[in-house]
Amino acid sequence: MVPTVDWKEGKVILVDQTKLPLEVVFNEYSDYRDVMLAIRNLVVRGAPAIGVTAAMGVALGAQDIDAQDGTEFLKKLEPICSHMASARPTAVNLFWAIRRMQAFAEGLQEQPVARIKASLVDEAIRMKAEDIAVNRAMGSYGAAFVKDGDSILTHCNAGSLATAGFGTALGVIYAAHEQGRRVKVFADETRPILQGARLTAWELMQEGIDVTLITDNMAGYFMQKGMIDLVVVGTDRTVANGDVANKIGTYSVAVLAKEHGIPFYVAAPTSTIDFSIASGEKIPIEERDASEVTRVFDQVQVAPEGARAANPAFDVTPARYVTAIITEKGAFRPEDLHKIQDPQADLESLRVKTVGK
Ligand code: MRU
Repeated sequence: MVPTVDWKEGKVILVDQTKLPLEVVFNEYSDYRDVMLAIRNLVVRGAPAIGVTAAMGVALGAQDIDAQDGTEFLKKLEPICSHMASARPTAVNLFWAIRRMQAFAEGLQEQPVARIKASLVDEAIRMKAEDIAVNRAMGSYGAAFVKDGDSILTHCNAGSLATAGFGTALGVIYAAHEQGRRVKVFADETRPILQGARLTAWELMQEGIDVTLITDNMAGYFMQKGMIDLVVVGTDRTVANGDVANKIGTYSVAVLAKEHGIPFYVAAPTSTIDFSIASGEKIPIEERDASEVTRVFDQVQVAPEGARAANPAFDVTPARYVTAIITEKGAFRPEDLHKIQDPQADLESLRVKTVGK
């Protein structure tokens, strides 16, 4: 798997996802403001990858702070964090990661400034490793829902490229594949930005997984024909009642899945769960430039000159359409999700182990 995000010799390295799959190019960043722009412009995208990149961006910005002591350092770290937080509004991992970096620095306030700077780099690198470990754990819980010979539909890209490695929804598929189950994937192309066509199809082909690319409006056709056994998607922000924000079009897939009695799973690391929001209508939805709709991947104009277009980047799937939310702590029914916040919760009794079709 191509590394999505890395820290090397004082720089942040990103594989440029706007160029995939035609070119595999790695960009180097030595200014945190450029890291923010890389997130905003989708050089790196996918909630967990955004989180880890933002943490590395904060660590990068921290290196240039000129401060006499920890108090002054923290004051100067604040605008770097707020700037990074302005990159995109929906994926909660962005805010989660920045807050974690800030809290970590606060805990080191009494240390020499050079020590705080070095520790922030270590913390960002640790977050990358943790993300991969979390995805592997999610994969092993999720693989239990995949039977030999299953056909799985996915939307957008929730793979290795959307995380620090291995992926969330695709991590479930990789784990089932590693366990020797034969799986077939249907990848929605995911207009307007085509993450499914450009990234999911490419990534799965690299890993030797049988993938068929379909346009978004073909999902119902294949479900009706009995050719989809389950759906698994990622999420940008899942909230306390189990409502799920994910790439625009996810909601339509979920409604279709329910109509056809097909299980609909969401792979959600706990870094993507926002327990501070009670239900989905409070999730901020990013509205992107209309040119992403009137043109195909900024290459070909497909709409009349001056056509008005709307471009919400995410939608919210109500919890009632979700069979289970797969986390690194296990898979849970959406209505039980809020219970896993409690450190005393008996997770074993809450876990969903198998779900029939
Ligand atoms: O606009 P994007 O490409 O950042 O949207 C990504 C998604 O919607 C993913 O499904 C989500 O972030 C989960 S990634 C593991």
